Amino acid sequence: MSLKDLKRTHMCGHLSEENIGQTITIMGWVQRRRDLGGLIFIDLRDREGIVQIVFDAKQCEDYFKDVEKLRNEYVIAVKGQVVKRDEETINPNIPTGHIEVVGREMVILSASKTPPFQIEDESKVTEALRLKHRYLDLRRPRMQKNFILRHNVAKWCREFLNEEGFLDIETPMLTKSTPEGARDYLVPSRIHPGAFYALPQSPQLFKQLLMLSGFDRYYQIVRCFRDEDLRANRQPEFTQLDIEMAFVDIDDILEINERLIKSLFKNAIGLDIDLPLPRMTYKEAMDRYGSDKPDTRFGLELKDVSDIVKDSGFRVFTGALEGGGSVRAINAKGCGDSFSRREIDALVDFVKDYGAKGLAWIVVEEDEVRSPIAKFFDEEDLDAIKARLEADAGDLLLFVADKDDVVYQALGELRLELGRRLDLIDNEKYNLLWITEFPLLEYDEEEKRYAAKHHPFTSPMDEDIGLLESDPAKVRAKAYDIVLNGEEIGGGSIRIHDAKIQERMFKALGFSNEQAWERFGFLLEAFQYGVPPHGGIAYGFDRLIMILAGEESIKDVIAFPKVQNASDLMTNAPSMVDDRQLKELHIQTDIEDTEK
Ligand code: AMO
Ligand code: AMP
Repeated sequence: MSLKDLKRTHMCGHLSEENIGQTITIMGWVQRRRDLGGLIFIDLRDREGIVQIVFDAKQCEDYFKDVEKLRNEYVIAVKGQVVKRDEETINPNIPTGHIEVVGREMVILSASKTPPFQIEDESKVTEALRLKHRYLDLRRPRMQKNFILRHNVAKWCREFLNEEGFLDIETPMLTKSTPEGARDYLVPSRIHPGAFYALPQSPQLFKQLLMLSGFDRYYQIVRCFRDEDLRANRQPEFTQLDIEMAFVDIDDILEINERLIKSLFKNAIGLDIDLPLPRMTYKEAMDRYGSDKPDTRFGLELKDVSDIVKDSGFRVFTGALEGGGSVRAINAKGCGDSFSRREIDALVDFVKDYGAKGLAWIVVEEDEVRSPIAKFFDEEDLDAIKARLEADAGDLLLFVADKDDVVYQALGELRLELGRRLDLIDNEKYNLLWITEFPLLEYDEEEKRYAAKHHPFTSPMDEDIGLLESDPAKVRAKAYDIVLNGEEIGGGSIRIHDAKIQERMFKALGFSNEQAWERFGFLLEAFQYGVPPHGGIAYGFDRLIMILAGEESIKDVIAFPKVQNASDLMTNAPSMVDDRQLKELHIQTDIEDTEK
């Protein structure tokens, strides 16, 4: 049989009992070969799954030698007949397990070296090796499933938004830096010596301009670039589902997005999400969970005990309160009994990683408490603390005293750690909620000025506009994030469309008029020509897919991701370039070329 006679008729994974009796042609990769002498079994794999093929030496004499040559990952074409398997050879673990293909003809399309790791989901292999040979890693069935899901979710997003009247409009990749807060990736200009483009951190300003241009509803599934230190689930280039709408206020945007999310969950995992989604203010999220992206799948909530401990003799607590901070605590239910002293000490070290100076603890027992700080509190205070934390005998109460942001962070992280350790998180749950009423500004200790928490074009809440000059820290923004199982999957805001308010915002940020024009001149210029009220949102598309796919890392849903140090282990990017290329770009480097 020659290659030109071969036409694939079926995908391996699609074959079923319905095909019994048919002569079919399949193509794919050899997953496994079992040689029983005159009988060779091949598991053949393609995107849709795996099917077993039997080659009997007696029936395929002319090419059996070739079958004997087959090794893992060879690419072959097989013509054969689908037959029912004998009862005792049925494999209930794979969808094609009730049938097999009796090989009639076989052609080797491509040989393969022995791969550096087995192509299977449970392959025990380091991430570095997987990423170096990403093209092999991507052959794993689980990876194939993830990217099929990713494709489908993108398709469903488009279908939903198209139906709702959104237009898909592209925005530039070579642009001027926009104020998203991270560092820009810069691209040198050959034609303008010394000048640089920035890759977009998001299409933020362009999508606002599209509203001003009258497109009314925009979306784009778009790559964004941020040169920041890579923490978990951040990539230097990642994808947003980016949306903007004109003539809307917060509720309009949340409403349509809730319907989008509902349809995605229904399509992707068959889950019915109840609408409207819960909303929680930023303040409530911080007070209860110590985080603006709370995982609400479990309790262990923070409690403020500042009022109870303020007159105690414990300087650590009273000192923090005098400094304008707070004392908050969580109740690790039952851990008073189960945690050893060493385990408690480990918790103290844990919070120190998040900036806390220490972690005070109280073990509640039947009639008394056990704690290095018990001596500073009278009976009444201890009872009040126990009541506030709903503590029973056997509980472990954990306290952090500091400035609010340190307390929130340390206890928020400790809460997550305990939630994991005590197995309190129900992995079957999908808890979605909106976080609203973010502060408009946050004080930048280093720069000694306020900075926009979202970006400088985010609108203050109407009722707080009066505070812009008198008490900027108190101004809340028309900004919202959508949180899923403790992950921020998206965020957005209503933008300022009133030039006067924009000017006051710039003042609050410490920009002079000239500085504002220098940075955002094109936008300010445009905003003089009739601006509709508008707002939008952007989803971290990778994060959304990660959660829908049940993965822990966004790398598992990005085909060619980068590692912690922002390099690509497969292509070895970034890499040194020729002197000639640099010269053309008018760039001189005095870095030693470590590759030479
Ligand atoms: P923001 O900066 O919050 O908003 O980004 C929106 C969402 O993008 C995801 N995200 C990331 N995902 C992976 N790797 C990264 N490095 C990364 N950075 C952000 C997050 C986040 O919620 N222009 C505004 C949106 C708007 O106001 O409409 C913006 O970009 O899931
Ligand atoms: P010290 O007085 O530093 O010996 O601390 C007494 C106890 O208070 C120790 O268990 C410390 O871990 C704890 N501690 C110290 N600083 C803090 C803090 N800022 N918040 C909560 N507990 C603290």
